[in-house]
Amino acid sequence: MKKIIVAIDGYAGTGKSTQAKSLAKYFGCVHVDSGAMYRAVTYFGQQQTTDGSIDIKLLIDSLPQISIDFELTKNGQQTFLNDENITDLIRQSKVNDKVSDVASIHEIRSFLVDIQKEMGSSKGVIMDGRDIGTIVFPEADYKFFLTASPKIRAQRRYEEQQKKGIIETLEEVLANITARDHQDSTRIVTPLKKAKDAIEIDVSYMSIDDVFNVMIENIVES
Ligand code: CDP
Repeated sequence: MKKIIVAIDGYAGTGKSTQAKSLAKYFGCVHVDSGAMYRAVTYFGQQQTTDGSIDIKLLIDSLPQISIDFELTKNGQQTFLNDENITDLIRQSKVNDKVSDVASIHEIRSFLVDIQKEMGSSKGVIMDGRDIGTIVFPEADYKFFLTASPKIRAQRRYEEQQKKGIIETLEEVLANITARDHQDSTRIVTPLKKAKDAIEIDVSYMSIDDVFNVMIENIVES
């Protein structure tokens, strides 16, 4: 297994996880979807109260009880929260609507960033998220930053959600993506931004394979 660290950051719905998955397969290393970890903590917080609202103080105090694992199965990578498979549950709109609030809390970020750093300490990892090239792995071997027009991202995410059986309108998806972009880019704690040394790729008019090929070319050529 090659010990390579690749950071893929960017806006919501740019296909970061899809690319990270393909690169991990290509290089025979682990894929860590850091967004799934913020989603898992959000889901955990919503389960703590009877009405599904998040009690931030309670959630922060409960962080030591949270364990998040990824497992590669024949159905793709699955996310586990304290041994419960939450892969599909964390894609629901109630999680989409609250995850950026949860991700703006310093204690939660530092809890997850420590785990993420640990995941890359011993073996190769392809990690996607918002702060991977800037905070989690500033020394990553390769960094990419994906962008695309909000409308195109919303259309792609809408189709993805439909395939998963999650009922949302295109307008709702676009509104959520736009709101999260804004919140993620303007939060005080480590906002979403391109690392100075990241390669920016506008994926608006590129196929999944085109984007993958650009990434591989950049990695192989350097
Ligand atoms: O797949 P999508 O781009 O829609 O989102 P995600 O990668 O699953 O991330 C969900 C949310 O988690 C983001 O909107 C951010 O608020 C937060 N996040 C973050 O703050 N830092 C990360 N490294 C990854 C995700």
